[in-house]
Amino acid sequence: MVHPFSLPGVNYYGQGAIANLSDELKEHGASKVFLVSDSGVASAGLVEQVSDLVKANGLEVIQYLDVKPEPTVKDLETCLDVFNGNRCDLIIGLGGGSPLDVAKGVSVLATNEGSILDYAGVNLIPKQGIPKFLIPTTSGTGAEVTKNAIFTDEKEKLKKGVVSKYLLPDVAIVDSELTLSVPPAVTAATGMDALTHAIESYTSPKATIQTDLYALKAIELISASLRRAVSFGSDKEAREKMALGSVFAGISLANAGVGAVHACAYPLGGKFGTGHGVTNALLLPYIMEYNLIGDLQKFANIARAMGEVTEMLSLREQAELASKAVFSLSRDIGIPQKLSEFGVKKEDIPGLAEASVQVTRLMDNNPKKLTLEEVQECLYKALD
Ligand SMILES: [Fe+2]
Repeated sequence: MVHPFSLPGVNYYGQGAIANLSDELKEHGASKVFLVSDSGVASAGLVEQVSDLVKANGLEVIQYLDVKPEPTVKDLETCLDVFNGNRCDLIIGLGGGSPLDVAKGVSVLATNEGSILDYAGVNLIPKQGIPKFLIPTTSGTGAEVTKNAIFTDEKEKLKKGVVSKYLLPDVAIVDSELTLSVPPAVTAATGMDALTHAIESYTSPKATIQTDLYALKAIELISASLRRAVSFGSDKEAREKMALGSVFAGISLANAGVGAVHACAYPLGGKFGTGHGVTNALLLPYIMEYNLIGDLQKFANIARAMGEVTEMLSLREQAELASKAVFSLSRDIGIPQKLSEFGVKKEDIPGLAEASVQVTRLMDNNPKKLTLEEVQECLYKALD
């Protein structure tokens, strides 16, 4: 059986990795750089740091710092208009998942006609975009190594996924020093998003020996360091492990995909404006309980990777420890435990379940085929 495996063109990992930006800019022969980020990243001083590096190479920088969390199609178009008015030849996305996704979107819309919604789905983008470098400042989305970008369709109030090899960056620079100032709540939500990527891709029907290597190591790294990164953010070792865990989870996700947790998170995010990471974090252990029987051995492996003691237990008992370990981690780092905390009501559940099963691209990639009734039942359990 043939398993395609994709990665960005060039990756740099480690504390201080940002120093490699200059060489890559020279290599790509850029003259004018479009830097996409947001106000939070700017106030942390990171926009200035990266802009200075670009300018030190004699290049001009146009900054776009208005990216909103969970960007809409309109947000992307606003950024594209600024790009089109400035004719830059390279894009840098700097920030969490939102600026990185907007940078990806602008890159492909610069060379392809129409709206990003025309390309929602898998492999629908006809042409390569303009070169893009992605530099994450959170450890979570893995957007710097995936071929996905997510935008909210305001009309349908639904998040739409665009999947294309042309969304992979030319260069990804993952420097954990850029994550040191991320506040605890964002560290918790993004870290749990990364854990969701690792667990969903590890148990995906498309998982391979190669993606398993990345996914299981990501689960180990994140479980061992997320509590510390949340409670003591300046711990460089914890931040470094989280950065690597997030990238490894992203690599696994890029190649094996995610499943029902992400499928259910999209309608919730679209209708209630709940953040991607925190929504996944809340749903993850509830859905793991349903998925358990899809692959007992893999769930047992997850429990061990998360530090659970599994000796003398039956395989099923070992597998059950996986969701318990996720509940415990999520409680420890202050993740909301019930959907009612997001303002979701009992009468919202049937519609949310219906919309979730319609995200077939992800539902079909779940280790257990979940029926509409099962999704409803699961969301009721997560409600209050
Ligand atoms: Fe995610």
